[in-house]
Amino acid sequence: MKPILTVQHIAKTYNMRDGIVYALNDVSFNIQKGDFVSITGPSGSGKTTLLLTLSGLIRPTSGEILFENQNLVNASDKELAEFRKKHVGFVMQNFSLIPYMTAIQNVMIPLGLNGKTSSEQKTLSSAVLEMVGLENRQNHFPRELSAGQQQRVAIARALVNKPTIIFADEPTGNLDPSLSTEILEFLQTINKDLNITIMMVTHSPQAADYGNVKIKLIDGKINNKN
Ligand SMILES: Nc1ncnc2c1ncn2[C@@H]1O[C@H](COP(=O)(O)OP(=O)(O)OP(=O)(O)O)[C@@H](O)[C@H]1O
Ligand SMILES: [Mg+2]
Repeated sequence: MKPILTVQHIAKTYNMRDGIVYALNDVSFNIQKGDFVSITGPSGSGKTTLLLTLSGLIRPTSGEILFENQNLVNASDKELAEFRKKHVGFVMQNFSLIPYMTAIQNVMIPLGLNGKTSSEQKTLSSAVLEMVGLENRQNHFPRELSAGQQQRVAIARALVNKPTIIFADEPTGNLDPSLSTEILEFLQTINKDLNITIMMVTHSPQAADYGNVKIKLIDGKINNKN
């Protein structure tokens, strides 16, 4: 089967006053549609940089990234923005909800960017909030929700555009163990039932075990030896 994502020899360097930092250094791997990929590694090993690069938010310094047949390295800014709108959902550790918008308004944001009418936005967002079990919390502001509920709103927002792939950067990093399990089970359901590919960064070995593919980074390089 042709991979959904082909990553070949990518590097990302930053020129700093005291020398060049290799955030990613010759990273290569393939991901199949429907994979649940966990990415682990020490702080500073390049995990966030990898997610940002694969989601088209930053460009690698060198190397190739193919998403299906689209070359993300040569793509124009406009093509990358289209790629993100169409294919990518992003979930972060701190939920990154807009504080002055209600749960449903937060979920509606990507639909507005995709040109859906406001009644379409409401219907679709409401359905996804129901899927994550928050049908009774649609009009709550983030501060009126628990941490686990806030993360579920963030997942609903990542899901509402029916993305091909969800990138999650430490989605359980700010949650206690039982809420972490709830979010991980939920990501697993999305992965299995909707066949959405997931790439998740985590510090937790238990969370990493949810992945059928495991990538370990050390100093910007893949290190899959134990
Ligand atoms: N914009 C930037 N400018 C300069 N250096 C950067 C920049 N972004 C990241 N780096 C460096 O690249 C390396 C990888 O950073 P990255 O954020 O990807 O690590 P990480 O594995 O996500 O770490 P953490 O677990 O702490 O989130 C680090 O050494 C970091 O200092
Ligand atoms: Mg990080």
